[in-house]
Amino acid sequence: MTRRDPPDPADLEPMERASRDELAACQLERLKWSLHHAYENVVHYRKAFDAAGVHPDDFKTFEDLRKFPFTTKDDLRKHYPYGMFALPRERVARVHASSGTTGQPTVVGYSRRDLDTWAGLVARSIRAAGGRPGDIVMISYGYGLFTGGLGCHYGAEQLGCTVIPMSGGQTEKQVRLICDLRPAVIMVTPSYFLTISDEFDRQGIDTTSTSLQTGIFGAEPWTESMRAEIETRWNIDAVDIYGLSEVMGPGVASECVETKDGSVIWEDHFYPEIIDPATGAALNDGEHGELVFTSLTKEAMPVIRYRTRDLTRLLPPTARSMRRMGRITGRSDDMLIIRGVNVFPTQIEELVLRQERLAPFYQLVISRQGHLDAMEVRAELRRGCDTRDKEAIAKQLRAHIKSLIGISAEVRVLDPDSIERTAAGKARRVIDNRPRA
Ligand code: DLL
Repeated sequence: MTRRDPPDPADLEPMERASRDELAACQLERLKWSLHHAYENVVHYRKAFDAAGVHPDDFKTFEDLRKFPFTTKDDLRKHYPYGMFALPRERVARVHASSGTTGQPTVVGYSRRDLDTWAGLVARSIRAAGGRPGDIVMISYGYGLFTGGLGCHYGAEQLGCTVIPMSGGQTEKQVRLICDLRPAVIMVTPSYFLTISDEFDRQGIDTTSTSLQTGIFGAEPWTESMRAEIETRWNIDAVDIYGLSEVMGPGVASECVETKDGSVIWEDHFYPEIIDPATGAALNDGEHGELVFTSLTKEAMPVIRYRTRDLTRLLPPTARSMRRMGRITGRSDDMLIIRGVNVFPTQIEELVLRQERLAPFYQLVISRQGHLDAMEVRAELRRGCDTRDKEAIAKQLRAHIKSLIGISAEVRVLDPDSIERTAAGKARRVIDNRPRA
């Protein structure tokens, strides 16, 4: 299908086009409110601010924010389930929870107004991606405690779209609904979209012939190479959407179709900082480090300097007044150290996708050999390629990894369809077989 034009500037919200000064004034005002709100209503923040010797009244300029302590996922865990709420529980209209792969889940809460803000920001994100009122939007993020499904759902409704609440899974049905209900927009994890793409191929349906014009992909890291793969295969615009439950959910930042140059952080609601993940020191715009957010308007669960663990950098505004973020290169807790070299799964993804005869699926298997960590890269031949070439391709990829990332990895090229597909949610890229400490 054909691609989309960017929205008419007249359709943007005033804040999306505001001057930097107007935006800064709004942020300062809202930061003051948020710091007071957290301090006055959440025991954890009162104690943490007192321990650091700061009071919300000390906040006068953006630099002052650095005096306030960070909040971590661990703080949220410690106050499970409702301890971080700043409103009486009866005023909390909805909760979501993170899956908690590493132990206790964390619960996040929204007031009625927070839900409206969230829907408004997702609507803004869909518009930035090229979506319009009246579009049919299929939501294939999981519904339920995960923020992806419901978050996108209410945003699409808010924009005035016709929503197909498909959720994740049932891949054959996904294909059927795309063909029959003719959505213009799909919102889904990029890895699951590839699974859907393969099902189209399996059924012999041409992916470039569908009604889809825009894909809004997020919830997991993906690369420019993956964008190129998806856009060519479908002839659609593929744009990024970023978010995390602790800060809100999808729609904390989102990419504009006219520039596709990184997600615009909706800075009128979330104040971003980049810090050195090791020391916590603030870094300048453009420098690479850990993304930290302070919520500016959240009522039910304000977050002050929340450490996302996501690694990226802040970039100057382009299509909107607000700053952008670079692609997430990984999470500080996702980083693998293979024989002293830091590696993120997305670096391997770039190299896998460069090889035309490999499918865009891969897994990294980490094991311990003696005292050292070793990595095996499992990639998969594209359908229709000669299986006799597997060894040669593996050798080439191994050489690329060695020369471009600097590590020696085992590479195995498997037959088509060998690598576990994402059933619905986020892809499992790393299989860690190291003995638990
Ligand atoms: O994944 C919210 C979301 C849903 C975002 C749908 C976009 C679309 P969580 O489950 O709390 O929330 O996971 C948040 O996922 O800290 C990142 O590490 C990662 N993540 C989310 N979006 C992106 C993205 C949702 N566009 C965690 N690129 C975040 C890279 C992303 N990583």
